[in-house]
Parts: sequence; C-alpha cells; structure tokens
Amino acid sequence: MKGIILAGGAGSRLHPLTKVTSKQLLPVYDKPMIYYPMETLIDGGIKEILVISDPHNIGNFVRLLGSGKDFGVKITYEVQDKPEGIAQAFLIAENFIRRDNVTLILGDNLFVGDGDFLDDAIRTFDSGGRIFAKQVPDPNRFGVVEFDKNQNVISIEEKPDKPKSDFAVTGLYIYDNSVVKKTKNLKPSTRGELEITDINNLYLQEGNLDVKVYEHYWLDTGTFDSLLEAGNKIHQLRKNK
Ligand code: TTP
Repeated sequence: MKGIILAGGAGSRLHPLTKVTSKQLLPVYDKPMIYYPMETLIDGGIKEILVISDPHNIGNFVRLLGSGKDFGVKITYEVQDKPEGIAQAFLIAENFIRRDNVTLILGDNLFVGDGDFLDDAIRTFDSGGRIFAKQVPDPNRFGVVEFDKNQNVISIEEKPDKPKSDFAVTGLYIYDNSVVKKTKNLKPSTRGELEITDINNLYLQEGNLDVKVYEHYWLDTGTFDSLLEAGNKIHQLRKNK
C-alpha cells in the first residue's frame, strides 16, 4: 500500500493566513497541520509516502519533512501545477503508485482518537474502494453519502444543496490500482476539477465501494473556526494524556 498526502489547493477560505504559505503548514496546536495526516498514514502501516503540493510551497514541505528518515518512512515529492481536483493526485502519482494499491489523505484532514483504524482498514482491504463517512452538522460542504434502509450506499453527491443524509465523505480514500485508469477516463466537472466523488461513484457502480463510518473525531481544517477547533481539540487531548 502506497500513501499520498495531497497538500496543495488555494486555501482561499483562510486568506490572509494562506496568502504566502500553504494551509497545511499552518500550526494545529504544537505541530504543522501536515503532521497529522502523515501520522495517520504512518499509523496505518504505510512506509512510502508521496507529498503533492503546489509549485510555491513544495520546497517548504521538503525542508520540513525531508526524506522521511526521522519518521521511519520514505517521503518523495511531486508538484501539482494548478489545483485541478483531488483525483488529479492519481495522475501525478502514477509512477509512484506503479502496480500497488494506494491510500490518499487530504493534507487538511485530521483523524484523531483511534490510532488503529487505518491499520485495520488497510489490512482487511482487498480490492475496490474503501472510504470513511462521518456525521456532520453541515454536510452540504462535502461529498454526501445516501444510504438505503439497509445501510447500503446508493449514491454520493458532491456538495448537494439538499443533502440526502448528514454523512460526509472524509478526506481519506483507499483504492486498488484501477484508480489510475479510472482517473484517466474521468472528465473534469463543471467547476473544472477531476472530482474524487466521480471516482467513488465509479467504484459504487461496479459494486466495489465500501463505506465505513468513522467513529472518532474528524475535522477538515479549511475554515477559521475548524482550524481553531482542531487546535483546541489537540491541546485538550495532550493535556489529558
Ligand atoms: P479544499 O478545502 O476543497 O480546497 P482548498 O484547500 O483550495 O481551500 P479553499 O476552498 O478555501 O480555497 O481542498 C481540500 C484539500 O485538498 C486541501 O488539503 C487542499 C487539497 N487540494 C489539492 O491539493 N489540490 C486540489 O486540486 C484540490 C481541489 C484540493
């Protein structure tokens, strides 16, 4: 299993904090934000990690994380020239993924409270796609999962006006190697992005998408409030240790 951290993007909701630096370099209590998704991948048993960021910030990630030796993993780097969608990561990472399966995590996603969940999810992963949903108060900001009455997933909608559930798709995705081919066949959406929701729907149509509910604490730190909340939460966890 290879790991990718996608750490580019415009970060426009955090301006002016992100005018001269990357969102994923901002502090979340006592560490730069990217440390959290990286630790999630490492806890998941992943040893080879590709960090993708924009041309302006990639050098700072190299300075921060280096070869990965200090973390016991191998880290390499690629540039995303423009933020043209989360799924574009699989095209940028094609030579890194080779014939392996891949776990992608977004650089602004914090999964806190259970160090073993990804290890379990990866060890039991065979093929297809496996994603994680979380109940949130504001699902329309995310991809939203629709379940039938037997808890089967019947659709995933990207940022719907009228969400069919309050289960958001979090920024952590496990896919088999066919994700590269699937992404090559994808057309950009009306907002000009290669949508991860389209990838998930392709796996769903094949009958190969497993949606797990993430039971612990999850935050996407893309807004001022969620960034502050994440810092406070980590602070509280450290104090209670
Ligand atoms: P978003 O939060 O959707 O976008 P953003 O970071 O550009 O922020 P804003 O909406 O405030 O402008 O992105 C989710 C994560 O994915 C975030 O960590 C950035 C990353 N990302 C990329 O690296 N490249 C991309 O093309 C996209 C769409 C997102």
